[in-house]
Order: sequence, then C-alpha cells, then structure tokens
Amino acid sequence: LTTTASKEAAVRPQASLRKLAFAFSPAHTQNVFTKAHLDHLHTLCDVVEQTPLRQFDDAQAASVLAETEILVTGWGSPRVDRKVLELAPRLRLIAHSAGTVKSLIAPEVFEAGILVCNAASANAVPVAEFTLAAILFSNKQVLRYRDMYRQKRESVKWERLSNPAVGNWRKTIGLVGMSRIGRRVVELLAPHDLCVIGYDPYVNADEGRHLGIEMVELDDLMRQSDVVSLHAPALESTRHMIDARRLALMHDDATIINTARGMLIDQQALEKELVSGRLNAVIDVTVPENLPADSPLYDLPNVLLTPHIAGALGVERERLGALVIAEIERYLRGLPLAHAISADTLHLQA
Ligand SMILES: NC(=O)c1ccc[n+]([C@@H]2O[C@H](COP(=O)([O-])OP(=O)(O)OC[C@H]3O[C@@H](n4cnc5c(N)ncnc54)[C@H](O)[C@@H]3O)[C@@H](O)[C@H]2O)c1
Repeated sequence: LTTTASKEAAVRPQASLRKLAFAFSPAHTQNVFTKAHLDHLHTLCDVVEQTPLRQFDDAQAASVLAETEILVTGWGSPRVDRKVLELAPRLRLIAHSAGTVKSLIAPEVFEAGILVCNAASANAVPVAEFTLAAILFSNKQVLRYRDMYRQKRESVKWERLSNPAVGNWRKTIGLVGMSRIGRRVVELLAPHDLCVIGYDPYVNADEGRHLGIEMVELDDLMRQSDVVSLHAPALESTRHMIDARRLALMHDDATIINTARGMLIDQQALEKELVSGRLNAVIDVTVPENLPADSPLYDLPNVLLTPHIAGALGVERERLGALVIAEIERYLRGLPLAHAISADTLHLQA
C-alpha cells in the first residue's frame, strides 16, 4: 500500500532534495561509510558529487561547493576557512565523521552560523571499552601470569595464590578528565566492585556525585588509585600534567593507562618508573606517535604498548558513519543536532 505522503514523495522532483558533498581521504576513512550508509544517504539527499573532495582550491571543488548545503568531512579532509565559505554560499551543516574539528574548522565557520557536529562520541565508545578491558586485566595482573606460565610451562599455582594484591575487588580507579570518554568509562565501570574517583577542573563535586563518582584533587587521585587512566584532551594546560612528581605519588605496583595523548605524561619520567619496575602501564599513545626502535617500552614485561588502537578500528568505524547520518536526518527534520560542536567550548575539547 502506498500512502498519499509517499506517493507525493515519489513524484517530488529530485531537485527538492538538499545538496550534499563529501570532503575527506577515502584511504583514511575506510569502513566509516558502508554501502548501506551511502544508499540511505542517497534517499535523504542529492549527492552533488560521489567522489570526496580532497582539496577546495580547484575548479571542480568550486563547482561542487557552489551547490552544497551539507558537507560531510572526515579524516584527511581539507580545512574549511573563509575562502571555502565564499565558494560555498549555501553551506549550512558540516558533519564531521571523525573526532576533533579544531584544525579542520576555522573560527569564521562558527561566526557564519554554520552548524558543525562531529563523531567524537562514537569514537569514545571503543576507547572506553579498551580502557575497561585494560583496567580489569591490569588488576588481574594478566601480563605477569602470562609471562610466568610461558616461562615455566607448568603450574604456577603457588604464585597465583600467594599474591594478596591481585584482582578486581574494591580496587580504586582514578579517572583523569570527565570527557566524553571519561564519562563512558564511568558507566562501564559501574557494574564492577570498584571504587571510582575522578579529577577534572571543570567538574565539581555535585556533578561528580551525579555521575556516581567522587571528584578529588589530581595529587590525591595519584596517591589513592590502584589504576590511573587518562582521558583529558591535549591542551597547553594538560601538557605533562602527569610529571615525575605526580608519578612518584603513585603507590608501588600501581598501573597508569594512557589512551588520551602522549603529551599528557612526561614520558622520560614514566620510562624511568617503568624500567625500574615500580609501576605498570598500558600505553596506546606516545610522543612521538611512533616510538624509536630502541625504546624500552616495546619490551618491558610490565608495559602493554599498543599502536594507537583504542579508537574506532574495523567494524567500530561504522558507528562513526551511522552517527553522522543520524545527525543529517535530524538536521533535515529541523531537529537540534545531538552532537553539535560549539565554538565556546572548543578550547576545552580534544
Ligand atoms: N587512543 C585513541 O585512539 C583515542 C581516540 C579518541 C580520543 N582519544 C583521546 O582521548 C582523550 C579524551 O577524548 P574526548 O573526546 O573524550 O575528550 P573531550 O573533548 O570530550 O574532552 C573535553 C573535556 O575534558 C575535560 N578537561 C578539560 N581540561 C581538562 C584538564 N586540564 N584536566 C582534566 N580534564 C580536563 C573537560 O571536562 C572537557 O569538557 C583526548 O586526549 C583524545 O585525543 C584517543
């Protein structure tokens, strides 16, 4: 059966669909938009050009931008600045299918009243899941038992039973930054028998209680936590927020997890603590991003070093595309965006 509304939709000329274009690097955005996503987008909008723009300063880009109302950006997208705005007089929404928009969107875009949203909340999900797994495995001392078993190749029963500190019962977890990811980690930790404390200069005690955790000063968090996990953005104010002095506040055999950004930690000071064996670490992000081949962090038994994999990988990337399409649907229906980025809070964000 066809309703009157859908009959009308069927006969409505294609020109009534709002114009959409893409601007990103397909190599960097693999798996973000599936065929099903793209088919759905084609029912919602008139896609001006299927091939994503890689630059905005050629004749082809100018002709696409002249028509575009909705620009879908992503990893590898060129920057949208005043010049691009001049080429795109109809532009109303930039829907970014990745995290930070800081280097992508010039302040003039916000000043022009163009709506901007990003998929950082979708990218927060796998980072929070990675963090939950890292916390539970760290407390269980999984790496240590794996190595013992691998070395002995027979029962490690005595070692298993003689360590009273091992396990996840009532350990204290300190989360630095009640960011999107930090908040999601709080939710994922809720069903476990753990005590969660947090530090964030922009979240007061009442808000913390609302989230279900106690907010403390950063030094106290470092002292009290069995596991410290970093979820603050990379800002000038967060550079080396975890320095030698703060690392020294952590108790022996505690674990530090960094899925945020390498610059949050004084890496030399951390290396010292890890080489001495006093602390343990799960490190997904470093400075530089790829460590030199002779870095001790690759081989230390108390370090789980991963190559920046906490964020969306493989199938998880589809969540980014789905979020962007849901935002475009909201925009087309005249509803407020669920993941709008405001120029006022951009300086606090990742
Ligand atoms: N490893 C990965 O693959 C991966 C993926 C995504 C994000 N990240 C990183 O994870 C971190 C968190 O990302 P997000 O999107 O949740 O961040 P976000 O943009 O949501 O963080 C903003 C919030 O951080 C808090 N904050 C600001 N300054 C702070 C400070 N000095 N100390 C503590 N908290 C502060 C404030 O509550 C602010 O609202 C960032 O460093 C980001 O780059 C890593």
